[in-house]
Amino acid sequence: MRIILDTDPGIDDSLAILFLAAQENMEIVAVGSVHGNVPAPTAADNALQVLDLAGLTEVPVAIGAARPLAQELRTTEFVHGADGLGGQAGKPPARKPEKISAAEQIVHLARENPGELTLLALGPLTNVALALLLEPRLPHLLKSVMILGGALGVPGNVTPNAEANIWHDPEAADLVFEAGFENLTLVGLDVTETAKADEAWLTALAEIPTPKAQFATALLKHYADFYSRMSGYRTCTIHDPLAAALLQDPTMAEYKEVVVSVELRGTHTRGQLISDWRRIADDTNIKSQAGQGRKPIRAAVSVNTNAYLTRL
Ligand code: BDR
Ligand code: CA
Repeated sequence: MRIILDTDPGIDDSLAILFLAAQENMEIVAVGSVHGNVPAPTAADNALQVLDLAGLTEVPVAIGAARPLAQELRTTEFVHGADGLGGQAGKPPARKPEKISAAEQIVHLARENPGELTLLALGPLTNVALALLLEPRLPHLLKSVMILGGALGVPGNVTPNAEANIWHDPEAADLVFEAGFENLTLVGLDVTETAKADEAWLTALAEIPTPKAQFATALLKHYADFYSRMSGYRTCTIHDPLAAALLQDPTMAEYKEVVVSVELRGTHTRGQLISDWRRIADDTNIKSQAGQGRKPIRAAVSVNTNAYLTRL
């Protein structure tokens, strides 16, 4: 599988890069950075550092959108550390990002390889939305799209209703869900929050004496400190690698088709994913506006967490 990775490293984003790099049947063709956990230029530097650690020294990295489509930039260093890597960012990378933007990179690659590439989006969807504006045929040029984001039947993680990646740019997310991608899978908090690494898992990782495992351990120590302050437990929810792992082995989860749209106006609910499981929006008697006429996507609704964490 050949992947364009859109990402905001980010502790769990970095783990996803390391996971993908270690899979024989998966190739990261290019990386785009996006604002989210940190500003987009920092995310690009972090992606370059992690790719180099993974031995992927040739994979191009393009810097993505500096801010969301219709709101101010909001980043979440309080989760991932001031550098986005829990204090593990090294010197500025020697390798420089590409001269094109992450959105342009998506469009160029999709046009050059029609029907071949999978887009894996692990951050806010600004670059994907911009790519759609540049190339409306994008839904037909990509083989598939995998998105980490949203909370369908569970509470949000930045507001009572909104998950971080959607909340960072609700307008962009709604454009993407409206675009009619043929093969779009959503992996949200419904499944990622069941995939918690506990102290035994973290200890087992820490005992692996490789630079990659030691780097991951250092990142996860910062993550565990954060979760410990939030919940009192040193268990980490490892979101982003789950989407990568489900690309590699979709059978680890169960899925349902659902029509989704994003709440763009609610005072308390902006950024919430509205999931229309019953296709009420298409019922002419009811005429709900949310999601009307949209193509359903595939949402992961349960996951075999043991299989996932063992694989990771
Ligand atoms: C998402 O938000 C970020 O903090 C993580 O990197 C992940 O992509 C989970 O809500
Ligand atoms: Ca992320």
